[in-house]
Amino acid sequence: MPQVVLIQGSLNKESRTAVLVDHAAEEMKRAGLKTTTLDLRNIQMEFCDGRPLKEYHPDMRQAYQAMEEADAFVVGMPVYCYSVSGPLKNFIDITSGAMEKKIAGILCNAGGKQSYMASADLSNILAFESHVTTLQPIVFSSYEDFEEKTLVGEKLQAKVRELVYNLAQQLKPQL
Ligand SMILES: Cc1cc2nc3c(=O)[nH]c(=O)nc-3n(C[C@H](O)[C@H](O)[C@H](O)COP(=O)(O)O)c2cc1C
Repeated sequence: MPQVVLIQGSLNKESRTAVLVDHAAEEMKRAGLKTTTLDLRNIQMEFCDGRPLKEYHPDMRQAYQAMEEADAFVVGMPVYCYSVSGPLKNFIDITSGAMEKKIAGILCNAGGKQSYMASADLSNILAFESHVTTLQPIVFSSYEDFEEKTLVGEKLQAKVRELVYNLAQQLKPQL
């Protein structure tokens, strides 16, 4: 069964990105994909300073290995200052080697709708550093798509389904 790693990139206890990531993981399971979620809130992460991977916390090495073994990955990205949040960028700086030539989906979550272009930064980082192909559609959510801890945006849910369908199609030879 194809394996997809979801990276939940927010450190916020009340994260909406986490809600979106959980929702996407459920859709993936329904589509016959095996999923593992790496939630950055549960990972001990030091700042990237260029040291070898083996010198980082074991959590980071485990995350790296899970990503290396995955067939594809999906990144849940909180928007900070119109771009990738610092902690998520730091995580990618350490683990980008494990993403080499894979396919990826992006779940981009921001406060307001004006920040939808922020996901282009993530797409570029993944493409230039790790030759990753970003699948369409890029999913973008903002505060209007949530009520408390529930994802209510119907268009958003349809986008997630479309992304999961496209991901499953790409991984189909392995199904
Ligand atoms: C430091 C910081 C910078 C932010 N910058 C933006 C921004 O540029 N555009 C935007 O729409 N929202 C911005 N936000 C709002 C977050 O995108 C929003 O709170 C989102 O829900 C974060 O994801 P999370 O709930 O998973 O942590 C910012 C929030 C923080 C804390």
